Amino acid sequence: MLENLSPQPADALLALIKLYAADPRSTKIDLGVGVYRTGQGATPVFGAIKAAEQRLINTQDSKAYLGPEGDMAFVNALIPYVFGAAGDKSRIQGMQAPGGTGGVRLAVELAKSAGVSRVLMGIPSWPNHAQIFANVGIAMQGFSHCAADGTADMEALRNAIEGAGPGDALLLHGCCHNPTGIDYTVEQWSEIASLVSSKGILPILDLAYQGLGQGMEEDAAGLRTVLAAVPEALVAYSCDKNFGMYRDRVGAFYVQSADAGQLEAIFSNANALARASWSMPPDHGAAAVRIVLEDEALTREWLDELDTMRARMRQVRDRLAAAGTVGGIDLTPLAHQNGLFSVLPLKSAQIVALRERHGVYMAGSGRINIAGLTADNIETFIAALGDVDEG
Ligand code: LMR
Repeated sequence: MLENLSPQPADALLALIKLYAADPRSTKIDLGVGVYRTGQGATPVFGAIKAAEQRLINTQDSKAYLGPEGDMAFVNALIPYVFGAAGDKSRIQGMQAPGGTGGVRLAVELAKSAGVSRVLMGIPSWPNHAQIFANVGIAMQGFSHCAADGTADMEALRNAIEGAGPGDALLLHGCCHNPTGIDYTVEQWSEIASLVSSKGILPILDLAYQGLGQGMEEDAAGLRTVLAAVPEALVAYSCDKNFGMYRDRVGAFYVQSADAGQLEAIFSNANALARASWSMPPDHGAAAVRIVLEDEALTREWLDELDTMRARMRQVRDRLAAAGTVGGIDLTPLAHQNGLFSVLPLKSAQIVALRERHGVYMAGSGRINIAGLTADNIETFIAALGDVDEG
């Protein structure tokens, strides 16, 4: 029976991790998978998380099951950060999910169960978005995310929305667009909110990098603008980057419903979907995040750590932008892009040459992880870019 399975290509992004590890060159530079790195190239556990984990070990007296919704104190502790501290939250409810991916998966499955048949999405996007749509069995309509001038392609978005209506969903990156780093402006978010609302489209907001762009509040502003304009929306949230939890898979899924009375039925569906997929989410990471958020001093420590990360990524972006045009590539737009990623318009041969000749590892799309660059390797990287110029 199992001989019927044909080999599948490895996930290109995850395959890069192994490729990089196997390269013996000490000068190699990892700009692949999206993990934050310090100026020393490390991805340490946050100090606030270390302290919370210690407290968890000292106080946790049981690992008995919690249920498909996971740690609800964790889920609720995030609500003011995502949806704002003020205002009525009676139409908002959440549950834990295994990473942001679990949140997206739940959102797409629930949307499909509710009758959504198509998801609109700006392209390029995180490759796993399209894989999840295909896996769940929902159609996708892509439109261009980036205009030629390096800003968001609003014309393409307007056209896509023009042809859509009830039964369609629109997936939006809340901040730090993956892979381009090109986020919507405040004015663009307002326009999107009114377009989506006038057409009766269901927004699915993926907020995986809150705090890595402009700040915790600023990075949620677009999401809140959309939520204020529409009756209902789905939100996938990740703590993997902004709490550095990556392999612990810490995420959440939230619903804003048209009426608070609908939440019980909605979450009975979401719980059933979770039960049939992962049954219950992993606890440890979410419990550590909860402990941070329940403690004022640890929360302050976490936010300071996040500020340091954001400031470092800004420095890297500014240094790249200051290099101007290198190897025919204009690096100046990187200064006003956000988060861990930007895309360099490199040809495949140049990406291969960067890897083979210079030990620079990046996604095949030309996406670079900004945090992979440090004071020690950034000049080497800029020189390597110049060296693979095809004229
Ligand atoms: C990335 O885009 O590099 C991260 O979101 C990691 C992943 O799961 O792909």
